[in-house]
Amino acid sequence: MPTAPDSPRADDASAGFAPTYPLRTERLLLRPIAPADAEAMHAYKSDPDSVRYVPYGPLTLSDIAQRIGSTWSTTRFEKEGDAVCLAVETEDTHTLIGDVVLFWRSERDRAGEIGYIFDPRAGGQGYATEAVEALLALGFDGLGLHRVIARIDERNTASARVVERLGFRQEARFVESEWFKGEWSTLLVYALREDEWRGSTRASRT
Ligand SMILES: CC(C)(COP(=O)(O)OP(=O)(O)OC[C@H]1O[C@@H](n2cnc3c(N)ncnc32)[C@H](O)[C@@H]1OP(=O)(O)O)[C@@H](O)C(=O)NCCC(=O)NCCS
Repeated sequence: MPTAPDSPRADDASAGFAPTYPLRTERLLLRPIAPADAEAMHAYKSDPDSVRYVPYGPLTLSDIAQRIGSTWSTTRFEKEGDAVCLAVETEDTHTLIGDVVLFWRSERDRAGEIGYIFDPRAGGQGYATEAVEALLALGFDGLGLHRVIARIDERNTASARVVERLGFRQEARFVESEWFKGEWSTLLVYALREDEWRGSTRASRT
């Protein structure tokens, strides 16, 4: 998962696009990340296995608190380059189980990118897929994106299955294209266009 860029905020609060929070799914709520989330996020962001394929970490509690106080607190899109990170919690117990991010990569091309990381204790129940589906609705319906990509290390098969379930197509495979955490990474680029999102792929995913 790419890290959120430093993104200066516009003073004009009427500019850009501000989602209405929380975003709701059948079992989940997606909402802005708050300082009180640091400890729950630390449980998985400090875990070397969980952060193996994301470009940071393992993070300390103070790393997380610092990021929550800066780049992870953006709640609206003002301009391309902005990224909105959201906490994902269960609708019934309000337990924080992961976080997701939507990057607005290009205004002209209406292009976005997604990232996600979940607490392994909440794995294998479809929560990540369900949360990313809500993030895609935010991108296509809310921000008006034409195309969303996901960049995934080829070894991260669980992550590839998440986007494949949502209808993404693998468009590229860059062999050992990145020197990442001390070893070569083969990068898969997955993409989903708005018409695909609204079309048959959406109807077929379960
Ligand atoms: C990537 C990651 C989110 C995937 O987690 P996950 O638990 O496999 O994904 P989901 O929560 O969507 O669960 C899907 C699994 O639950 C199963 N499942 C069980 N009950 C389900 C239900 N009610 N609904 C849907 N799926 C269900 C699915 O069959 C699927 O299993 P499978 O992939 O073995 O077929 C997780 O491994 C992670 O956080 N990794 C570390 C961070 C990371 O690498 N991020 C991505 C960087 S590109």
